[in-house]
Amino acid sequence: MPGPSPEAGSPSSSPRTTGTSISPRRVRRRGAVTVTEQPPSVTREGITIQSLSKVYDTADGGEVTALRNIDLQIQPGEFVSFLGPSGCGKSTLLHIIAGLLPQTAGTVDVFGTPAAPGRQDSAIMLQTPVLFPWRSVLDNILLPVEILGLDRTSATARAHELLELTHLTEFAQKNVWELSGGMRQRVSLARALVTDPALLLMDEPFSALDEFTRERLNIELARLHEELGRTTLFVTHNISEAVFLSDRVVCMRPRPGEVIDIIDVDLPRPRGAEHLASAAAIENESLVREAIAEYI
Ligand SMILES: Nc1ncnc2c1ncn2[C@@H]1O[C@H](COP(=O)(O)OP(=O)(O)OP(=O)(O)O)[C@@H](O)[C@H]1O
Ligand SMILES: [Mg+2]
Repeated sequence: MPGPSPEAGSPSSSPRTTGTSISPRRVRRRGAVTVTEQPPSVTREGITIQSLSKVYDTADGGEVTALRNIDLQIQPGEFVSFLGPSGCGKSTLLHIIAGLLPQTAGTVDVFGTPAAPGRQDSAIMLQTPVLFPWRSVLDNILLPVEILGLDRTSATARAHELLELTHLTEFAQKNVWELSGGMRQRVSLARALVTDPALLLMDEPFSALDEFTRERLNIELARLHEELGRTTLFVTHNISEAVFLSDRVVCMRPRPGEVIDIIDVDLPRPRGAEHLASAAAIENESLVREAIAEYI
């Protein structure tokens, strides 16, 4: 995979400006990432966010600047986390990239075309899995295939592969209400992957889970990312989770939501349980903690 390209505000592209710059002393090169074959829609462009701002109108007639001047270049196959305190615009950013929310200013290009809703090449996974209790686990996973009108036979074969990857094979015909919270999130992850999206958007997918389950799912997600190599944007409040999973951690601050720093995670891949509390992981975590210290 190609290395990260210069981003707006990076030391190689422009001087430091409030909110979008990368502090030179914190930027570190990351190791090589194994990327498997990409779907045809993936282009060399990756995801390009330029001068992005979002202002919401509030119910009392005022305005909230949820995002201001976001500039970011994400490479195909990269795993990038967005981390910052509540209200810094993480969900807003993810929803704009998903094409579910219009921006106020700026542009977002996903694999060479403007962000738009209903793209077959992207999937979003939310904090709470929205599963349908009248459908089996397998049929919940196949839902996007039905919505997009894709071939069910090949998708069913893919769904079975994903059931295996997420360790759910024996639950394929179960009702979703028979599953634990962690298992439901794994169903949600399998459903997000069933159309083989080139871009996976995840908004705090594991934050409602207990620590043990979260850790296990983080290990599974790291393994899936290394097997599938899909571009993944992951929102979290959890520093260890962000470091363990990511190639880069985008640190944000609130009101207005801005990028304050981007940390290149220096941890080898493939990543497994042994990296969770390794000295290198802790060192990376302290860089992230330092970047957002003011907002913890
Ligand atoms: N529909 C809306 N109307 C008005 N303001 C909104 C709306 N949605 C979000 N906001 C405001 O935009 C800002 C960013 O919200 P957003 O949900 O993107 O933050 P977040 O970083 O995802 O927060 P959290 O970590 O709590 O999920 C907040 O100040 C929020 O109050
Ligand atoms: Mg949010």
